[in-house]
Amino acid sequence: MPDPIYLDHAATTPVRAEVLEAMMPFYGPRFGNPSSMHRWGREARTALDEARERVARCLGASADEICFTSGGTEADNLAILGTWRARRAEGRNAIVTTPIEHKAVLEAVHQAAREGADERFVNMTPTGVVDPGSYAGMVGTDTAIVTCMWINNEIGTIQPIDELARKAKSVGALFHTDAVQALGKVEIDAKKTPFDLLSVSGHKVGAPKGIGAMFIRRGVVIESLFHGGEQDRGRRPGTENVASVIGFARAAELAVAEREVEDARLERMRDRLEAGILARIPDATIHGRGAPQRAPHITNVSVPGTDSESLLMALDLRGIGCSAGSACQSGSISPSHVLSAIGVEPNLAGSAIRMSIGCLTTDTCIDRTIDVFAALVNKARGSGSMAARAS
Ligand SMILES: Cc1ncc(COP(=O)(O)O)c(C=O)c1O
Repeated sequence: MPDPIYLDHAATTPVRAEVLEAMMPFYGPRFGNPSSMHRWGREARTALDEARERVARCLGASADEICFTSGGTEADNLAILGTWRARRAEGRNAIVTTPIEHKAVLEAVHQAAREGADERFVNMTPTGVVDPGSYAGMVGTDTAIVTCMWINNEIGTIQPIDELARKAKSVGALFHTDAVQALGKVEIDAKKTPFDLLSVSGHKVGAPKGIGAMFIRRGVVIESLFHGGEQDRGRRPGTENVASVIGFARAAELAVAEREVEDARLERMRDRLEAGILARIPDATIHGRGAPQRAPHITNVSVPGTDSESLLMALDLRGIGCSAGSACQSGSISPSHVLSAIGVEPNLAGSAIRMSIGCLTTDTCIDRTIDVFAALVNKARGSGSMAARAS
């Protein structure tokens, strides 16, 4: 059996050797609590402060604008609920978002709606980008916050964040972007792009799971979700996850430093993958392919007459790990909310497979995936078993 092929980098990535090496002392001799006054505590505090500076530099921010969290989900919740709760007394009650956000954003917005917020979902174009007319009609002087992801985790479309943030700010709304899939893929610079809040997560860029960060622009008022400590300026109480913060700082630095070269490598392999699939299966659809800007690491493909669950299992049996929609939805075979929002009809959406490439991917992986995928599709259509399931 050939080596297994991991094509699920948008779900998570392996911890990088450099990251693990940077973290190890903090599980050993440098174990102190940064809030302690003694030498062990001071040593941990210094390391934490340095890591905060380094993460800030990766985002074009200042250290006091970085708040560490347990990951992207917590950062998204803190950004949305923390600012909306702080602003509702000003008479700004609306939250504007898109229907293609990650559940971390959608569920936080729904929670705010249960507490009284007016939730608004903009329309998307069929290629997976915010419809500018719909957006302009929804953002106004009653808007507390706009939240729009930078790169979609299922179809890889890139939103025009600069333009959307400028429009939000022109009417006094805050602008948050979920940049969990964007770190290391596009340039993120708080000095150039006027977002107020931005979420990132470590495990998408070679840091461990369970660590993330939020950029909160200086002056933005946010209510903490947790209570019980002064850590992170009271915005995120709780003893800091020092080792993971150190690892995240290293991973973020590497991702930013390698971005241009790695993006070009991934884009070339993604194009090879898509061209190979389309050459062998001409009626395959690649969702989001027509968008003006796409991430280099995500391909989402549907083939009529197949279904995602059977294809995923068959790929796995042949050593290829992909996902249907996003990993957070696996186990559930309901059609992806992202594909529904861009108007993909349910049968086609029910056959979608996401292949996400990254640090473990080589040209050999791509070529074998094309061969195996085409063979599985032919077999499924020949036997008719998948077609029957999909209807
Ligand atoms: C776009 C997006 N937002 C948020 C998250 C959640 O991040 P985490 O797993 O760090 O909680 C993910 C993870 O899949 C994601 O892709």
